[in-house]
Order: sequence, then structure tokens, then C-alpha cells
Amino acid sequence: MMPIALFLSTVTGTNGQSTLFPGGPAAAKLSHLSWFVLILFLIVSLVMWALIALVATRPRGNFEEHGPVNAGGGQNFIVFGGFTIPAIILAVVFITGLSATSAFPVHDGGTHMPAQIRLMGHQWWWHVRYVEGELDQRVLTANEIHIPVGRPVDIDLESVDVIHSFWVPTLHGKVDLVPGQVNRIRIEADHPGVFRGQCAEYCGAQHAHMILLVVAQTPEEFQNWLSAQRAPAADPATPQQAHGRDLFLSRACVVCHTIRGTGAAATVGPDLTHIGSRIGIASNMLSNDDANLAAWVTHAQSLKPQSAMPNVTQFTGQELRDLVAYLRNLR
Ligand code: CUA
Repeated sequence: MMPIALFLSTVTGTNGQSTLFPGGPAAAKLSHLSWFVLILFLIVSLVMWALIALVATRPRGNFEEHGPVNAGGGQNFIVFGGFTIPAIILAVVFITGLSATSAFPVHDGGTHMPAQIRLMGHQWWWHVRYVEGELDQRVLTANEIHIPVGRPVDIDLESVDVIHSFWVPTLHGKVDLVPGQVNRIRIEADHPGVFRGQCAEYCGAQHAHMILLVVAQTPEEFQNWLSAQRAPAADPATPQQAHGRDLFLSRACVVCHTIRGTGAAATVGPDLTHIGSRIGIASNMLSNDDANLAAWVTHAQSLKPQSAMPNVTQFTGQELRDLVAYLRNLR
């Protein structure tokens, strides 16, 4: 149900990926600015078209009927209509735009409070670290950021490879993730929901499949999520899952991924300690279910060519089912 709900909400915009349905104060500010500029220039356009229509339909005459070219209000009309009025309109737009964007605490160069989240761009996924609190309380996850409703959350943006761009249009504008530099964005959601984001800077073959979800929750739900994420991985609940874990730890998976609480501690790919709790896999290109997970393990290069995830094909059918059963239990 979750993928269908997500798809519908993306289309209708209420919880999805749309600048037209702001879900937080920053996006609301940007939305108001857009509507203000749009309506203002619509009015200007209508006046211009009315003047053009007037000139086009005006009866022709000769010099005797119209008098000398510069007589009457002609000069004044050109000075006011062609210079003064446009200057006032453009100044108003300029100042309104400046005051809207200056309200955003981005790029404030080291004087700011520590961020709550560090987001690292990879080709082509998002590495999420919650850095609030003690070191051993930190949370690692991927492609999904949870935030409490009604509270501003600062995110430091970095990249390990090329330039990516953070863009969750329902919550804010864009800020780039630039290698060797830390940028910042402050997001806040005013209602619970799943807000879809998209890397907004072309970053290679799978740029379009670099999707980020922001899940805004009530403060209680958020705290529960955070506590669950802090815990080490769940132990296998069945012999099948135990077999799946053994496979994970003895095959290629362990070369790239971490599952906290087991021997798997590599950091090439996303942390899988709570992979079963996530909405999507493959940077939210696929919904998180048994079939997609099995397909992703064995055919990642067909689904997402050039991604760092290889086709891991050394499983029998039963082994693959056991592995998927284990991973899906990691909630
Ligand atoms: Cu990352 Cu486009």
C-alpha cells in the first residue's frame, strides 16, 4: 500500500513533490513569492496587451488631425510608462525576493549551531547521519530522513564524489552538495507526511534515480523511530532468517555493507542495520518488498546500470529467499 499511497500523494501534491503545496514555512515563503511575482507580471502583461490592442485598433489619421508628434502627454507617458513604473515594479520584486530568501539560515559559515543531520551525497544514493547526542547514540541510515513536525532541523550537506543537489520542493528550495565544502539547509514540516525529494543537479547515469524521502512525524513517533534506529540489528527470528544472516556474512554483501551488531562493518554502500524499516530501496527507486529486494540483489546492474551495487548471483533460489527473509526482518 505504501508505494501506491506515495505515488498518489506525489501526483496530488499534498504530501508529494510539489512547490505548489508547501509543507513547511520555508516552502510557504517561496510559494508566496512565486504567486506574488506571477500575479504581478500577469497584471503587467494584461496592461501591455491592452495598450497594444488600443494602438492597433486606433483610427488612422494624418498629421493635421493628430497634431505634432510630441504634443500633449506623449513625453510624460513615455517617462512614466516606460521608466518610472517598471522601475518601481522591479524594485518591489527585488526587495520582496531578497527579504524572502534572507530569512533562510543557509551558508552561515561556521557561526551556526551544530547541525542535527549530516547528509552525504554519493553516486547515486544519500548517506544520512544523525549527529545529535553522544557518539554511540548516533544513527546511520540511507535515503530516508525522519524529522519531527514543527521543529526546524539543520542539515549539513556534503558530497564524496560529484556535485549533487538537495531538493525537497514541498519543504524548501535547492541547496547543492559540493565536494570539499559543507553547505547547510534548515527544513521544517508543519504537518506529518512523506515528502519526496530528488537530486536536482545532474550527477551521472542514475541521477534521476537518486530519490530522497523526508518523513515528518509527530515528536513521539519520531523519538520512537530514533530509538529503534539506534538499536543494533534484530536477531534472526527463524532458522530461515538465521541462514540468511550466515549467507550475508559469508558472501559478497559483507564487502560493502554494515549491519550493526554483526560482523558486517563495511561502509561502501548504505548501512543495512534497519533496512526492513525503510520505505524504499535503491535510493527509493524501488519500493521495499521481497520481490524487489531479491531482484535488486541479483540484478542491480539491470535495474540501475553503473551503480556501485554489483549483480550478486551466487545464490540458489532458496538461499536468496533466506537472505531476503533476513533483511526484511531488520526493522
Ligand atoms: Cu545526485 Cu543528481
